[in-house]
Amino acid sequence: MQRVKIWDSFVRISHWLMVLLVVAMWFTAEEGYMEWHLRLAAVLGALVITRILWGFFGSDSARFSKFLKGPAAVVSHVREFRQGHYQPSNTHNAAGGWAAVLLLLLLALQFTSGLFATDEIFHSGPLASLVSSGFSEAATEFHETVFNVLVALVVVHVVAIILYRIKGINLIAAMLHGYRENVAAPRLVSGIIGIIAAAVIAAALFAWIN
Ligand code: HEM
Ligand code: HEM
Repeated sequence: MQRVKIWDSFVRISHWLMVLLVVAMWFTAEEGYMEWHLRLAAVLGALVITRILWGFFGSDSARFSKFLKGPAAVVSHVREFRQGHYQPSNTHNAAGGWAAVLLLLLLALQFTSGLFATDEIFHSGPLASLVSSGFSEAATEFHETVFNVLVALVVVHVVAIILYRIKGINLIAAMLHGYRENVAAPRLVSGIIGIIAAAVIAAALFAWIN
């Protein structure tokens, strides 16, 4: 049995940070800690932007071109999975790849709509003052709707991961330590580069938003 590293440290750290931050963003908005909502938004936004860039310039296993496959591949993956013949690969499987992209897209929409959102009292995104109040209100409503869609997709995401676990495939362990057994080694880029890029982008967004 050969252990192969498939997820670099940026992919792993950014995933688990995103999970914590989405919960924190919900909590800060619900409880009215809007200063913290706007501070943490810079960090979450930076992670999402960097992860999207990483999908073009990062490790092979993280590249959209490596894991996004057509509908035939998705159907055949689901069929193999149900029949128990599924062979693990060195990146996302054909269905999980689309889930990853959808989750990132929703996070990007959430971030962008937040920039125009306002609580109509003290706190607004940095672009809210540049648009009409009608537009800003619509963006705020969109911000709430996208969050609900995001939560629904996260539920599907977690249920799917539990189903893989039931079939004996532990996706969570690989997302924690980075290793999977008996797959071809992907070309990895040092995750430190992604972490530094995310920190620089977070600092810039922080200065702009706050
Ligand atoms: C990127 C991830 C983000 C998440 C997950 C998130 C999540 C949320 C949630 C759950 C709410 C409460 C919506 C409701 O009332 O039901 C909210 C409200 C709000 N968010 Fe965000 N947000 C994000 C980014 C941002 C950003 C980047 C900004 C601005 C820079 C922002 C500004 C606001 C404002 C001003 C409100 C208050 C709207 C109101 O009072 O109705 N958010 N956000
Ligand atoms: C707010 C909640 C969550 C969001 C926004 C989210 C988002 C994502 C994204 C964007 C990816 C793709 C990772 C990449 O390619 O960089 C991913 C993968 C993954 N997530 Fe989540 N996730 C969430 C919650 C969770 C939870 C609670 C778990 C644990 C049960 C989990 C386990 C995983 C695993 C194991 C993968 C890798 C799947 C594979 O091997 O193809 N996620 N998630």
